[in-house]
Amino acid sequence: VGAAAREALARLVLDVPDFPEPGILFKDITPLLGDPAGFAAVIAALADVGRDGDGTVVVDKVVGMEARGFILAAPVALALGVGFVPVRKVGRLPRATHAVSYALEYAVATLEVHQDGIAPGERVLLVDDVLATGGTLQATVDLVEACGGTATAAAMLMELSFLPGRQAIGDLPLTALMTV
Ligand code: PRP
Repeated sequence: VGAAAREALARLVLDVPDFPEPGILFKDITPLLGDPAGFAAVIAALADVGRDGDGTVVVDKVVGMEARGFILAAPVALALGVGFVPVRKVGRLPRATHAVSYALEYAVATLEVHQDGIAPGERVLLVDDVLATGGTLQATVDLVEACGGTATAAAMLMELSFLPGRQAIGDLPLTALMTV
């Protein structure tokens, strides 16, 4: 599974220079999403992070972070047979939420989760496309803990190794299918 996913990522994630601004090399995953075999291989590899060595599912929920994380986390949740929980940008969820804010370079971002999205004691797998600074992932860990759950692992398509994302998330086990 891992080899097929890595091959698909290498072939179907395209480099787009100077997007969204000059000097940024954007990683475009839309060709991967449009390729059913590649997309399936990647979902299978991400879902494996939620299983132990015997294939037993060891998480109770899968959380995805808006917006590209939703595209990956929802099929991972279905593959594992557990519920999907969206972590959204502020103001989008209609019922009682927990909120966590974190610093961006020149601004503050706030993410929310429904308070009843994760039950106390649940083990949660976090799924997103990219680990960059780690701010989004750490805020999501905090949201899971605010609900009384435990973030037990994170599964990402890509890790940007030139940014301190790994250091930002402490000892949360992180699997990235590709390192940039
Ligand atoms: C991107 C990406 C991750 C986050 C990673 O999302 O999808 O969620 O940034 O960056 P970090 O590690 O520095 O926090 P973005 O905020 O661009 O939102 P989008 O998915 O809605 O485009």
